[in-house]
Amino acid sequence: MSTATMSLPLAHNQRAEFAERVRRAHYLEYWDADYRTDKPTTGVLPHLWGWEEMKGLMLESAKVIGINEAERRGLILANPGLAGKPYMTNTLFGDVQILSPGESAPAHRHTTSASRFMMEGTGCFTTVAGEKCTMVPGDLVINPSWLWHDHGNDGTGEVTYLNVLDVPLVAGLGCTFYDHDYWKEGDVSKTVQTVRKIYDGTTDFYSTGGVKPRNINESKKPYSPQIVYRYEEVRPTLDRLATGKPDLYDGYILEYVNPETGGPVMPTMSFTLQMLTAGMKTLRHRHTSSTIYCVAEGSGCTVVEDKRLEWNKNDVFVVPTWAWHSHMQIGKDPAVLFAVTDAPAINKLSLYREEREDEKGRSTVIMPA
Ligand SMILES: [Fe+2]
Repeated sequence: MSTATMSLPLAHNQRAEFAERVRRAHYLEYWDADYRTDKPTTGVLPHLWGWEEMKGLMLESAKVIGINEAERRGLILANPGLAGKPYMTNTLFGDVQILSPGESAPAHRHTTSASRFMMEGTGCFTTVAGEKCTMVPGDLVINPSWLWHDHGNDGTGEVTYLNVLDVPLVAGLGCTFYDHDYWKEGDVSKTVQTVRKIYDGTTDFYSTGGVKPRNINESKKPYSPQIVYRYEEVRPTLDRLATGKPDLYDGYILEYVNPETGGPVMPTMSFTLQMLTAGMKTLRHRHTSSTIYCVAEGSGCTVVEDKRLEWNKNDVFVVPTWAWHSHMQIGKDPAVLFAVTDAPAINKLSLYREEREDEKGRSTVIMPA
């Protein structure tokens, strides 16, 4: 190479002056940018929100803010690693909501997909696209993208539930829309949907595994036609599964599925229910999906990297993407964990990767197909 074409290191002051001009012109020096990480770096921390404190704060919130003032009276679970952002993980948002007797939250819709996991109380309902669905503890209600929904409490005591939505994922993709103008639908009420479908209908039609109705046309929608998944129907399946061999990493685990396809119930999020029987301890693994857990029954401990999260009923905790984790049951009763994961979105992008450790500590990486 001739000296005319050879690049020579710039003097320190020239280098600094170049860097400044680059910055002002809205460029970054590639060689200084730190985005080329050898593993995901989201900042999300493993964290647990304990039920006792959560419930106490929710009950207080019901005193300090009226439902009409709040629209949705909820406490957002803010991950301590995300500097005050209203997110649980880099892809998932979660909040806990409380409705006092007779209260209702007005209809709205959004492009984000949502889910409700009923924690405590009876008399709660959510109406999704004209179907009024009752909810009791342990029930899962899905709320696919852009469907009108409103909530209410017909009971005599407070009701509380966990919402998990794909808010950060949809925001990152630049696809967030909210619509609060239910009045334009021309319904009798401007804020509450008229029930136009059979009460709890889709649950009655679809909740028996292994069969599907033929007198109802397939919805051909990218989400499940079944809106509510009843705990009392799903839970016994775990006991039946427990007569066989558990998964080494998740114990006895079920995925809630779209009865038309057998696939996840919504395009971006999937839901599971898993049981750890007495003394069960799973092996460690990590994967490129984030998971939010809510304890449905029992007690246990999840070790995430070097953090021990000890959990009891209704506690909520998060396992970030690519974090080593294992679960352990504690106490005499089986533990049951409800979980929400962003795996369907990650899978669709062919980015799902998992690393498993066997009993001898040897690891295997499973790459996208
Ligand atoms: Fe909503």
